[in-house]
Amino acid sequence: MFDGALFDEYKNFTFKFPEPQYLGAKANLLPWIARFLPDSVETALDAFAGSQSVSYYFKQLGYKTITNDFLSFNNQIGKALIENKGEKLDENDLEILFADAPNKSDFTLMDDIFTGIFFQKEDAVFIDNFRANIQRLSNPYKQAMAFAVMNRSLTRKITMGHFGHTQALVYANDPERVKRNRSLIRPVKELFLELLPKYNDAVFDNGMDNVSYRENILDLLPTLDHVDLVYFDPPYCDSHADYQGFYHLLETYTEYWRDKTFVNGIKRYEPQRYSGFDKKRDIVDSFKKLFELSDSIPNWVISYNNRSYPTIDTMVELIKPFRNVRVEHKTYQQSRGGKGSVAGSSEILLICTK
Ligand SMILES: C[S@@+](CC[C@H](N)C(=O)[O-])C[C@H]1O[C@@H](n2cnc3c(N)ncnc32)[C@H](O)[C@@H]1O
Repeated sequence: MFDGALFDEYKNFTFKFPEPQYLGAKANLLPWIARFLPDSVETALDAFAGSQSVSYYFKQLGYKTITNDFLSFNNQIGKALIENKGEKLDENDLEILFADAPNKSDFTLMDDIFTGIFFQKEDAVFIDNFRANIQRLSNPYKQAMAFAVMNRSLTRKITMGHFGHTQALVYANDPERVKRNRSLIRPVKELFLELLPKYNDAVFDNGMDNVSYRENILDLLPTLDHVDLVYFDPPYCDSHADYQGFYHLLETYTEYWRDKTFVNGIKRYEPQRYSGFDKKRDIVDSFKKLFELSDSIPNWVISYNNRSYPTIDTMVELIKPFRNVRVEHKTYQQSRGGKGSVAGSSEILLICTK
């Protein structure tokens, strides 16, 4: 007999999450992680959501999905692909986004800071003008789509897909590099138009009121109730934990900081947001608080790595007062360039149950 519920669940999997380029993204590990998710989840929280790859999977599974990341550019992806039920960017929106912005003289931040470091002037001026126009789109979901696609275009454009180096223009002038990756010399507008259909096609409604937050997770947890499952994928302290160093440019573009200073060769903004999970001196205390605050959520799944600080044994000790914990390993055969994804290192899941 035709099972409507099963069909609905299957239908969500006809949508495809646009491939991210984000340190530590779990898009490729989802089939493995999925094996350890509990049955009968109604509401799931993705606490350190990053590219939103796990949230998108939760949404596909039909969960009411609460997603959170303390950085704005990640929150915008959450609004665009998790919270958004149907808003896409159409021809009219593109006309608005590409028009000469009436207030473009107020929008020169990217040109002022990053021309000559990450961009040629033409691209910097283009993205400033586009940024001024995002506010002219008719609703927050279209605006979030514009941010998500533009920010992804910027990681396509810049060599290595992050902004923690000053090689962008050097590589864009190196014919060998360009032969391997033509995106380095393509105009941002062209990259945006190529990526847009993938994002538009990824928008769907799973029948739930999903929400995307931009909070420090330690502030968000006390405000939530009725969550059945939480997935924690914190930065792997001691290897690639400085997300604000790697992705400062996307945060500056999204926030359009007017009150920060821009430091070092890469012009990272200062002061940074407080994480609690990216520095050795804070991390044990932060995990203790995290687990205390999650006590009302029955199921926890935690991504970890055998080279992170603190050790897995310490993590197990920190969890034990609250939950039974089982450790699952997956060994990387080769480096994929992601967070901790060094050959021989292991991706860990801590499965925590009452
Ligand atoms: C390993 S990444 C998550 C990757 C994600 N699972 C994915 O598939 O893309 C860790 C994330 O934690 C975020 N983060 C760091 N400290 C945080 C905090 N205190 N509260 C919320 N998010 C935080 C970072 O911005 C980063 O995106």
